[in-house]
Amino acid sequence: MTFTPAPWPRRLRSQDWFGGNGRDQIYHRGWMKNQGFPHDLFDGRPVIGILNTWSELTPCNAHLNVLAEFVKRGVYEAGGFPVEVPAFSTSESAFRPTAMMFRNLAAMSVEEQMRGQPMDGCVLLVGCDKTTPSLLMAAGSTDLPSIVVTGGPMLNGYYKGERVGSGTHLWKFSEAVKAGEMTQDEFAEAEASMSRSAGSCNTMGTASTMASMAEALGMALSGNAAIPAVDSRRRVMAQMSGRRIVQMVKDDLKPSDVMVKAAFENAIRTNAAIGGSTNAVIHLLAIAGRVGVDLTLDDWDRCGRDVPTVVNLMPSGKYLMEEFFYAGGLPVVIKRLGEAGLLHKDALTVSGQSMWDQVKDVTNHNEEVILPAEKALAKSGGVVVLKGNLAPKGAVLKPSAASSHLLTHRGRAVVFEDIDDYKAKINDEALDIDETCVMVLKNCGPKGYPGMAEVGNMGLPPKVLRKGITDMVRISDARMSGTAYGTVCLHTSPEAAAGGPLAVVQNGDFIELDVPNRRLHLDISDEELAARLAAWTPAHELYQSGYAWLHQSHVQGADTGADLDFLKGCRGAPVGKDSH
Ligand code: FES
Repeated sequence: MTFTPAPWPRRLRSQDWFGGNGRDQIYHRGWMKNQGFPHDLFDGRPVIGILNTWSELTPCNAHLNVLAEFVKRGVYEAGGFPVEVPAFSTSESAFRPTAMMFRNLAAMSVEEQMRGQPMDGCVLLVGCDKTTPSLLMAAGSTDLPSIVVTGGPMLNGYYKGERVGSGTHLWKFSEAVKAGEMTQDEFAEAEASMSRSAGSCNTMGTASTMASMAEALGMALSGNAAIPAVDSRRRVMAQMSGRRIVQMVKDDLKPSDVMVKAAFENAIRTNAAIGGSTNAVIHLLAIAGRVGVDLTLDDWDRCGRDVPTVVNLMPSGKYLMEEFFYAGGLPVVIKRLGEAGLLHKDALTVSGQSMWDQVKDVTNHNEEVILPAEKALAKSGGVVVLKGNLAPKGAVLKPSAASSHLLTHRGRAVVFEDIDDYKAKINDEALDIDETCVMVLKNCGPKGYPGMAEVGNMGLPPKVLRKGITDMVRISDARMSGTAYGTVCLHTSPEAAAGGPLAVVQNGDFIELDVPNRRLHLDISDEELAARLAAWTPAHELYQSGYAWLHQSHVQGADTGADLDFLKGCRGAPVGKDSH
């Protein structure tokens, strides 16, 4: 931690718009005054952009307009000038073909909003899965002082007295309906009990994971991740973050000061400890790419190996985010990492304190929810990175969500050429498949789907489910919802649509999964593989226009974060004509 605050007072970038009496400045100020802003707000105080991903079609973020008011309170209290700005909102539940296709578009648009407008610092008001990484990517590329405030998780759901977790139970219940164990009426009743308050998914799905990643990176105030959306302390967190961003601007405390390699390593280990989503792999790689940190897939395996999963939350465990908050939340987990020698304690955070100083005095209030290491859900909880002739650039698997008896497995491939092929065949009783087979799904990667849909945890065939079998080895270039579970190899790279080996797997091939040795192998000769690859042609035409064309033309592989190639890196936030 070597950060030295900048001298204050000094002229801020917003003064290029508002400071002085030139024609341009009068023009910029004058228009702002039609909202009733008094003249002294333009006197050189920090202008704070509140980038708000509120949207009624992003239900997880639909309460953020309320939180924005509390951020504003904090900004005013600290002597800043808050301006709320709508940011591209990528709804996980409603955006087609997949919210992930628009993560980079959101990042690109927010980056330009930050750079092209009079903002000295930014509050990233986020929640649903892609909103958090997209705005962090934008902040990384502009390097304007920024702080994350998430909307917080929903309250616990209950159905027939049992906890119901967002997403996790959707998968469970839909399998139960398929297996004839649940009626459609019961399903509808359960569905209503799943989302009983404002907020993001209440499991340790991708939203809660990314909120935790923001906190573990040091980009949110300590304790932010777990406070329920409707808890009054969520509003306090928003207000305190509003106060803090003003001081961050004065100190010139930037994302590049906080998001250094050590911060990413802290986040990777935190992800292992919480049993976080595999989506965090892609998002952290992309964020690192924006701030110029050399983070690789191998860092995930290296850093996560020694970390037990101790947070007993669905989908890996039993409880939900509300209980995680009552137990003490993420600071308890980070403290545990520090005590185990698995934390860069001196990592700087947006609070100005080191990570360790923030967490060293917290207490675990519930050892059923945040488990002691000897009762860990998985001894080695980190995301596993598999390599082999089927995944030369890597594939990932989440051990805490997998079945231990399948972690070493050899099985006959049953191939689905794309998601439509899967949907057409999976319920066919004549499909030649049993529980020993390996289900292979192609053309669902960043370029292929496009956007890399969360379909990697493809449901099992009904005839297998009826035997009471709930897991099989599944391999794809797709992602998996953070709320899902299973022995699922994801993000296989290079993807099928880019001509990776996954593209040439055939029905009847044998595939070996060897998690202890990090191996994913297609059991054919090198010559046969080379011949198949030489004869490969793309299964689908690419888009010819619009954003889908831009995405497919420029998206990089999942192994490097699936960012658009021309968006990587930090471009800063110069003002005026030089802004590009
Ligand atoms: Fe938005 Fe889960 S769908 S947080």
